[in-house]
Amino acid sequence: MPHDPEGAGARRPLLRFLTCGSVDDGKSTLIGRLLYDSAAVHADQLDALKRDSQRFGTTGGDLDLSLLLDGLEDERQQRITIDVAYRFFSTSRRSFIVADTPGHEQYTRNMATGASTADLALLLVDARKGVLAQTRRHSLICSLLGIRHVVLAINKFDLVDYDAAVFARIAEDYARFAQALGFASLPAIPISARRGDNVTAPSPQMAWYDGPTLLAHLETVETGGAQVRPFRFPVQWVSRPNGDFRGFAGTVAAGAIAPGDAVLAMGSGRTTRIKEIVTFDGPCERAEAGDAVTLTVTDEIDVTRGDLLVDPASRPEHADQFAAHIIWFQQERLVPGRVYWLKLGPRSVLCSVTALKHRIDIDNGAHVAARTLDLNEIGFCNLSTNAPLAFDPYAANHDTGAFILIDRYTNETAGAGMIAFALHRAANIEWQALSVAARDRATQKSQEAAILWFTGLSGAGKSTIANRLERKLLELGCHTMLLDGDNVRHGLNRDLGFTDTDRVENIRRAGEVAKLMGEAGLIVITAFISPFRADRQMVREIAAPHAFLEVFVDTPLAECQRRDPKGLYARAAAGAIPNFTGLDSPYEAPETPELRLDTMGADADTLADRIIAELRRRELIR
Ligand code: ADX
Repeated sequence: MPHDPEGAGARRPLLRFLTCGSVDDGKSTLIGRLLYDSAAVHADQLDALKRDSQRFGTTGGDLDLSLLLDGLEDERQQRITIDVAYRFFSTSRRSFIVADTPGHEQYTRNMATGASTADLALLLVDARKGVLAQTRRHSLICSLLGIRHVVLAINKFDLVDYDAAVFARIAEDYARFAQALGFASLPAIPISARRGDNVTAPSPQMAWYDGPTLLAHLETVETGGAQVRPFRFPVQWVSRPNGDFRGFAGTVAAGAIAPGDAVLAMGSGRTTRIKEIVTFDGPCERAEAGDAVTLTVTDEIDVTRGDLLVDPASRPEHADQFAAHIIWFQQERLVPGRVYWLKLGPRSVLCSVTALKHRIDIDNGAHVAARTLDLNEIGFCNLSTNAPLAFDPYAANHDTGAFILIDRYTNETAGAGMIAFALHRAANIEWQALSVAARDRATQKSQEAAILWFTGLSGAGKSTIANRLERKLLELGCHTMLLDGDNVRHGLNRDLGFTDTDRVENIRRAGEVAKLMGEAGLIVITAFISPFRADRQMVREIAAPHAFLEVFVDTPLAECQRRDPKGLYARAAAGAIPNFTGLDSPYEAPETPELRLDTMGADADTLADRIIAELRRRELIR
């Protein structure tokens, strides 16, 4: 785009808005019209537009304003928009940044991206169709993402004979629906983006409409963006160009700061004062939200990347459990209990959803019971992180209250979250100091504690080998314990079935128990299918600092089916057991187990001896 955000326009008050609508509501044409009529179009671009209108256009010779949008060539040819695009234009009264997000349903993600920084949402509907499921969804997402102002632009009035009754019906319909969403303003405006009616100039065709044009509304709407908020500064990195200088670089997320002001570092809980604010152009006297600066402080306090510097008089929350809305972006569903990276500003921690409270039905806002979230679904969850996190509720601050979840294996952004409130569950539970340490208990038994985590298909031979091994260890004088999936499922885990979610919890509890037994100084052998890689990684982390050996009992599925010791494969194949591992529920084989046992090539006794040899090699037993 030929624009100059740093130029004259940038000094005018800025309105960021998001456009939502479906492919054929005329959204691109509308944005094109706003840009064109506000004279943001340079002459060279107009020439290109004329050429392109003849090539791709659907307006039969007229300028096709939708082509103004600088999309990809194939995006033009498909005539859909496939990503968030930010555009800039300005009038004498205001500057605008438009986030244009695609309309089709699978792009909730892009919409969420655009919405998190928007002051207002422009919802576009087709006058011939009125408010659709899509409009309701977009409204709900906007409301969840904290957008407080909405404009309903009812487009294509030229195609309904500029009929006042159509306007009244749709406007009323929407107002009724949106009542519960808490928007501070939600006017409806009848327009024709194609012909320009009520976009920047009042329409002579719709004398019955006495409200503002769309542009006039955008120029004058008060979004109250400038409220005073407490100082927040997420530290992007610690800058140490030489021994004398140590500064904290980042962008002020909220509030303002000046030399001499007190700041609290949330990581260490220490308070200090700002010595200097350094910018590219040298020191400055004040920094406020949006400014990228480096701060130096008067005391040598511990601050690392990802820390949050705050106003000590107005502290954020600091907790390792909280409730949040999550929008799920990934094809692979959200599984409570599974571990993801959580990134909040520059800070990354491990986290898992401890409870999925409900899913939100995007069509009507209803809360429905759910065990997982699928692509594009929105849920309300409790989360738990492996370290305390400093944050604000999303409603108070979008920057310090929003996070993304990242899949640990694919590195994909799996979801986005908006924090509702902190849960101080564990806040009053201290770690009790124990006078006997885990090491003392192991030493008393003359051994090293260890966890041997067997994994493999049902019928692979896990229990058989585990039993042999325990007998042999016992004979060597070792103190052991065997946790077998089938047995644990009769007691501790009798409430769990075989859905993905239940298996994650099964493995989590088994991992916690194995860890406790490790602390008792035992050599723990576990035999659970534990089919998911992510969950085996989770138990490895739970079990740290004990020695942890993943033992892959590798038997091909066909062989397990042939052996079928409990007759379960036959029953599962007959449809009597749903979610059976290897059949209609996946088994993710370990990629780098400490030991792989090939049961086709050796008997249980030989394989148990191989484990013993490995334990000796690692000096875990004598
Ligand atoms: S895990 O997947 O959660 O690790 P676990 O090892 O506890 O499973 O339990 C597996 C045992 O439960 C199998 O050996 C088998 O006897 C029994 N079982 C019953 N239903 C299933 C099922 N749908 N899938 C796998 N095993 C099942």
